Amino acid sequence: MKKNLTHTLTELNYKQKWTEGLSHEIEFWHDWIHTQGQGFGEDFRNRLDPQKPLQEHIWPLLDHLPSGRLRVLDVGAGPLTALGKIYRSQPLDIVAVDPLADYYDQILREAQLEAPVRTTWCHGELLEDRFEPSTFDLVFSQNALDHSYDPYRIIKSMIRLTKVDHFVLLEHRQNEAERAQYQGLHQWNFAVEQGDFVIWNPTSKLNVSKELLPYVDIQIRFIAEVNWLNIQMKKLKDLPFESDSISSPKRGFWTKLRN
Ligand SMILES: C[S@@+](CC[C@H](N)C(=O)[O-])C[C@H]1O[C@@H](n2cnc3c(N)ncnc32)[C@H](O)[C@@H]1O
Repeated sequence: MKKNLTHTLTELNYKQKWTEGLSHEIEFWHDWIHTQGQGFGEDFRNRLDPQKPLQEHIWPLLDHLPSGRLRVLDVGAGPLTALGKIYRSQPLDIVAVDPLADYYDQILREAQLEAPVRTTWCHGELLEDRFEPSTFDLVFSQNALDHSYDPYRIIKSMIRLTKVDHFVLLEHRQNEAERAQYQGLHQWNFAVEQGDFVIWNPTSKLNVSKELLPYVDIQIRFIAEVNWLNIQMKKLKDLPFESDSISSPKRGFWTKLRN
C-alpha cells in the first residue's frame, strides 16, 4: 500500500508539471501555424498535402503486409500529422491523436486551414480507453512521448494496439529534456545506453529494452548528426494487461473525469 501511495504521488507530480507546461506547447503551435512553419515552410506544406507519400524510411515496416488499406495511429501528432498520407499509391487510414486537439482545431480554424487528417483528442496514456487492442498496422510517435506524463505506459499501450508481427515506431531526439532544461513539457529523456533503449530523468531510469524483452524485438538506430533516435519495435506477442490499481486507474477513469 505504501509503495502504491508513493507511486501515485510521483505520478501526480508528473501530471501536475505536465498540466503546467501545456500553455507553452499551445503557444508554440499557435506561432507555428500563424507563421506557416516558423521558417520550415516545406515541412508545413508537406503536412497539409493529402497526396504526400509516406516517408521512405517507414516503408520497410509495412512492405511485408498484404495490399489493402493500412490503419496507422500517430500518438501526439500535433495539429498536422507529420506522416505522409499515401503508401503504395493508396491513401493510408491515419488516426491522429493529441491531448491538445481541441486547441489545434481552434488555431487551424482561425488560420482558415483544414488538416488532411484531423487530430482528435486523446492523451497517449488513455489510448486503451479509446481503441481496441491489435487493431493497427503501424503505431507511430514522433517527438511527443518525451512530452507526456507517463511515457512507459504509453509505449505499452502502443504495443497492445498494434497487431502481432507489426511495428511500433518511435522517433525522438536523444536526451531532449536535458537539452530543454526541463522547461515546458520536457520531463523525460529518451536515450540509448549500451544498445538498450532507456527512459530517464534526474530521479528515475527505466531500461525499456529489458522490460519489454519477451514482447517486442527492438531495433535502435541513432543518427548522431541530428541527435535522432529511431526505435522500431516489432510486436512478437500480446503484452498482458496490468490489473487495475491505485497507480493504474480503471479503464475509462480519466475520460470520465474530463467529461
Ligand atoms: C513537439 S510536439 C510534436 C508533434 C508531432 N508529433 C510532430 O512531430 O510534429 C509534441 C506533441 O506531444 C503532445 N503531447 C504532450 N503530452 C502528450 C501525451 N500525454 N500524450 C500524447 N501526446 C502528448 C503535445 O500536445 C504536442 O502536440
